[in-house]
Amino acid sequence: MKARILSVVGARPNYMKVAPLHRAFARYNCQVEHLIVHTGQHYDAEMSEIFFAELELPEPAVFLGVGSGTHAQQTARIMLAFEPVCLEMRPRLVVVVGDVNSTLACALTAVKLGIPVAHVEAGLRSFDRTMPEEINRIATDAIADYFFVTEPSGVENLRREGVPAERIFLVGNPMIDSLVHALPKARQHRIREQLGVRPGQYVVVTLHRPSNVDHPEQLRGLLEVLAELAQWRTVVFPLHPRTQQAIERFGLRDYLRHICALPPLGYVEFLALMVEADFVLTDSGGIQEETTYLGIPCLTLRTTTERPITCQLGTNQLVRPEPDAVRAAIDALRRGERRSGQVPPLWDGHAAERIAQIVLHHCLGVAVE
Ligand code: UD1
Repeated sequence: MKARILSVVGARPNYMKVAPLHRAFARYNCQVEHLIVHTGQHYDAEMSEIFFAELELPEPAVFLGVGSGTHAQQTARIMLAFEPVCLEMRPRLVVVVGDVNSTLACALTAVKLGIPVAHVEAGLRSFDRTMPEEINRIATDAIADYFFVTEPSGVENLRREGVPAERIFLVGNPMIDSLVHALPKARQHRIREQLGVRPGQYVVVTLHRPSNVDHPEQLRGLLEVLAELAQWRTVVFPLHPRTQQAIERFGLRDYLRHICALPPLGYVEFLALMVEADFVLTDSGGIQEETTYLGIPCLTLRTTTERPITCQLGTNQLVRPEPDAVRAAIDALRRGERRSGQVPPLWDGHAAERIAQIVLHHCLGVAVE
């Protein structure tokens, strides 16, 4: 009988981590049945469906449809909906990725039913417990069985927290697998022509962290800096629903007058913009890694990062999310003060293949050549 594996996706950054895993497991389809469970944490077409098509992910086998809510509501609803799925489908392994509420909720549900859990992108720590994602990371890693890690800091953090070395696998970065896979399509995409932006003459901005967008004064200060930046470079700013809602709620729409504000973009479109950007300004987790791979300067508007290798080896730089600090960092880039970065070890487009082999051999005990 084939070993059934359920991989969980819920929110936008999950899809690009599971897509290469699905391709990698497909090579072993005599031994494994790999199915995708979508919790429905993100439900807008532009936050979800488009990614399935672009990343060549199959329809989810199960859709839980939980939607938005407070953290407790969302986490609890996912657990309630995922438990009967586990009971009925009896997977041999549940794979969770990243650090969103769906990650923790499904890990907790599975382990309590005695189903082993593998955490992909385990061990990352910002050491900032005000971030909901940090709580999700710590709690997921406290209960998971197998830990797939993208960078050496993750191994150190897990070891310090008492995880046995034989359960930790430094495999590289599956999100970079997706990037490598999509890069040829992204280079050919016409979005730059469609928006009328010239290579190297525009900046890509994404902001969605609660700490940056949920407080009116904080958001206003950052939008002011973007309005100034727009006098020098075209500012392309795809708006996450949370940010869009905050801008409306706080009456800040006027600041976008000279900014190219867009709805959330698809994966390939966004990548197509990133590859030719002068630099990127963000508070995202994954974009720090993508810009490091692409060698594009990235100003991350946060005081901490759970992905330190992007600052040590890559092109990422943390900037205090205060207007004057952001202005100073932009001015430095403007003066040409730019670091050339390196791609971290094992970020080579083959992380998911390593994960699939380890899962089969080590976690499921299936013989693979
Ligand atoms: C979630 C993740 C975050 C990740 C981000 C990427 C958690 C704790 N946070 O944050 O780590 O970086 O996704 O996008 O899991 N909304 C819509 N349509 C959607 C989804 C959300 O309109 O499809 C709106 C809702 O009003 C919701 C708000 O956006 O309340 C925030 O969504 P939520 O899923 O709570 O968290 P994100 O901010 O998206």
